[in-house]
Amino acid sequence: MRLTVAITGGSCAIYGVALLKALEQLGVETHLVVSRMGEYVVEHECNMNLEELRSLASYSYDNNDLAAAIASGSFKNDGMIIAPCSMNTVAAIANGISSNLVGRAADVTIKEGRKLIILPRETPLSVIHLENMLKLAKIGVKVMPASPGFYHQPQTIGDIVNIIVGRMLDQIGIEHNLMKRWGE
Ligand SMILES: Cc1cc2nc3c(=O)[nH]c(=O)nc-3n(C[C@H](O)[C@H](O)[C@H](O)COP(=O)(O)O)c2cc1C
Repeated sequence: MRLTVAITGGSCAIYGVALLKALEQLGVETHLVVSRMGEYVVEHECNMNLEELRSLASYSYDNNDLAAAIASGSFKNDGMIIAPCSMNTVAAIANGISSNLVGRAADVTIKEGRKLIILPRETPLSVIHLENMLKLAKIGVKVMPASPGFYHQPQTIGDIVNIIVGRMLDQIGIEHNLMKRWGE
């Protein structure tokens, strides 16, 4: 399996970092692009620099590199996950703006009919945010707010993060043991 992963400048970068670690452990080929504010938030919240972040991915690209492999629909992959997804990036995707690699790769994922999962994070949500997410949900983008359930009775931040990462992997169709399932 081959996935595009993007990290943008929403809070909760920990989900993107944990996702990359999980995909690495599961042997999934990852193609990473990080926005400038994504890099900033990862450094601020996770004490991790861009080089360390990139080392978790199989391949990584500059957000300005619109000639990167993942900018083309002819580059086959199994989908794209954007975690976290800022409202700026939600707006760009919902309006077909491809002026950076995150937007272009998402646009390509949509036009090729591949799976696109976004983990938006903002509070409160404005009507503009909600309308942009509705537009994406209507065309099949999986909108997964960074809002973990607590019915698993998580004990640590790691448990909470694993719930969201596990649910993203479920959506893309990857088997994992990151969380207890209700009823099991
Ligand atoms: C510490 C920090 C936390 C932020 N958290 C959020 C957030 O949760 N959601 C959001 O939409 N924007 C958030 N922002 C603002 C975005 O980073 C900003 O809108 C930026 O333009 C997003 O650019 P990008 O989509 O290219 O990453 C945050 C910014 C900073 C500095």
